[in-house]
Amino acid sequence: MKTVFSGIQPSGELHLGNYLGAVRNWVRLQDEYRCIFCVVDYHALTQDYDPKEMAKRVCDMVADLLALGIDPDRSLLFLQSMVPEHTELCWVFNNVTGHGDLERMTQFKDKSATQPENVNVGLFEYPVLQAADILLYKAQLVPVGQDQVQHIELARRIARSFNHRWGKVFPECEPMLTNLPKLLGLDGKAKMSKSLGNHIPLSAFAAEKPLWKLLRGAVTDPQRVNREDKGDPDVCNVFTMHKALSTEEDLAWVREGCTTAGIGCVDCKQRLSGRMLEHFRAYVERRAAIVADPSIVQKVLEAGAAKARALAQRTMTEVHAKLGLWRSP
Ligand code: TRP
Repeated sequence: MKTVFSGIQPSGELHLGNYLGAVRNWVRLQDEYRCIFCVVDYHALTQDYDPKEMAKRVCDMVADLLALGIDPDRSLLFLQSMVPEHTELCWVFNNVTGHGDLERMTQFKDKSATQPENVNVGLFEYPVLQAADILLYKAQLVPVGQDQVQHIELARRIARSFNHRWGKVFPECEPMLTNLPKLLGLDGKAKMSKSLGNHIPLSAFAAEKPLWKLLRGAVTDPQRVNREDKGDPDVCNVFTMHKALSTEEDLAWVREGCTTAGIGCVDCKQRLSGRMLEHFRAYVERRAAIVADPSIVQKVLEAGAAKARALAQRTMTEVHAKLGLWRSP
């Protein structure tokens, strides 16, 4: 069975974009693969954050992942900083990573531009740590969005260079691109993100009112200005959400109603709201139960780290031997 590895930064509570763009797919992958999911808090140090909030961000995210169906009995779920082998392997990988390769990473260039006051080495190194995340567990498949493909290809190159210089230890990993909906923000901008504040947090699905407050203002087909205008569902972000969460029957109803101006955007959004509340009902219940007992997240993270460390140490023993380092005989 192939091993899948993916990571997510501890941004706190998840939003609909995280769910439809990644986590929903992770939940499905558990049926077919040996899955390893990591909350990458060391990666988060590359950007400014408030240390007082970090622990809560991690707990909130783990609670969400569990409530959405990441099953710690079938998959490995753990926190990166609890497994020091990640940074250890990262150092080894530094020595087979080209400086020029890192300079070419578009995410590094983008982030350097958005935080010019803090272009730190961690930001530069980010993809090397990511390669270590994946290869420490010898994972072959990495489900990621298009924006991460360059990093996964670099990880493959790092694996190849290591194997070439010191002997074969690592498999060649590859990105696993699934056709997932590309969700825009509520303001119609690409993409839905917490930092842009144009997101639907999953906590909004706990009740009708907070959800409606967000959905009511969601940008639809920008050409459909008045109720009488005919719309085009294929360019409507609300229809993208329908496609992800509603039934075929709903989709036919929206398509017909929207293209003939038989229904207004409010009608379409109300139908969507109902489907969303239905879809996330089990999540809302499970999350409440998890949050009510903090020992649940604690136990998952402790058990996850213990399992991950055992695997990671096995790989590091192989690595140390290939490097020719001294160890007690
Ligand atoms: N860089 C990824 C992101 O921003 C997060 C990540 C860190 C990751 N390590 C990983 C993803 C390993 C896949 C595999 O989304």
